[in-house]
Amino acid sequence: MKLLELQKVTKRFGGLTAVGDLSFSIEKDTIYGLIGPNGAGKTTVFNLITGIYQLSEGKILFDGKNIENLKPYQVANVGITRTFQNIRLFKNLSTYDNILTACHFHADYNLLGAILRSKSFKKGEKELEKQAKELMDILELSDRKDVIAKNLPYGLQRRLEIARALALKPKLLLLDEPAAGMNPDETIRLMELIKEIRDRFKLTILVIEHHMDLIMGICDRISVINFGRKLAEGTAGEIQENAKVKEAYLGEEEVIC
Ligand SMILES: Nc1ncnc2c1ncn2[C@@H]1O[C@H](COP(=O)(O)OP(=O)(O)O)[C@@H](O)[C@H]1O
Ligand SMILES: [Mg+2]
Repeated sequence: MKLLELQKVTKRFGGLTAVGDLSFSIEKDTIYGLIGPNGAGKTTVFNLITGIYQLSEGKILFDGKNIENLKPYQVANVGITRTFQNIRLFKNLSTYDNILTACHFHADYNLLGAILRSKSFKKGEKELEKQAKELMDILELSDRKDVIAKNLPYGLQRRLEIARALALKPKLLLLDEPAAGMNPDETIRLMELIKEIRDRFKLTILVIEHHMDLIMGICDRISVINFGRKLAEGTAGEIQENAKVKEAYLGEEEVIC
């Protein structure tokens, strides 16, 4: 079953086509990779899916329903949450409080109950605290429970952002370069964690990565984009053998050198 489907999606900024005529679909319970050189249009695709940008043309279907005109909070409500390439956290709150505030997204509040601190309110709070602790454990952040987010090492800030996205109980989790700034050991552990998260929460995951080799091992399927257009799509093995993909990345290395 297709959970997310992009149909001929185009996004123009003035004269620049950041994403052009892009189509791909993601099967439920799979990990899908979106890769491509810097400036290829990857983050723009996330911004289109999550309602931050309006499409110039095309359609986006989630669970068979059009979502291209939804506002960001409505996209979160239908079950799509994300992390950002530039980490977004409450920088002055602790690890635990960052997760707990996200857990409140689904809290069924009754103002009077909250003011009077009724039995059912306290029970609800206990449940949210339990969820926050569980997420902290899964993302291996429990030993940093009280550390203020801005003081966490970069790799842990990224994991904290994933915990916050999971607290919103998504069906589809979008990760924008989750390994950026991590060392090789942290990266390997993160890739294992992403798989564990998919299995544990029965999630579908779309992950953006700039370096192909990082996600080759975890993706069921991959699309490579360059200049906003799809260059290739297939399994990791198929992508690795693709001449056009090699060329796109070779070109980039020359520029970097
Ligand atoms: N809000 C915007 N206004 C103008 N140009 C933008 C905007 N967002 C992205 N772009 C441009 O779109 C292209 C794709 O950017 P982006 O999606 O961030 O690439 P990637 O994430 O693959 O590195 C780039 O040329 C970028 O400068
Ligand atoms: Mg990007």
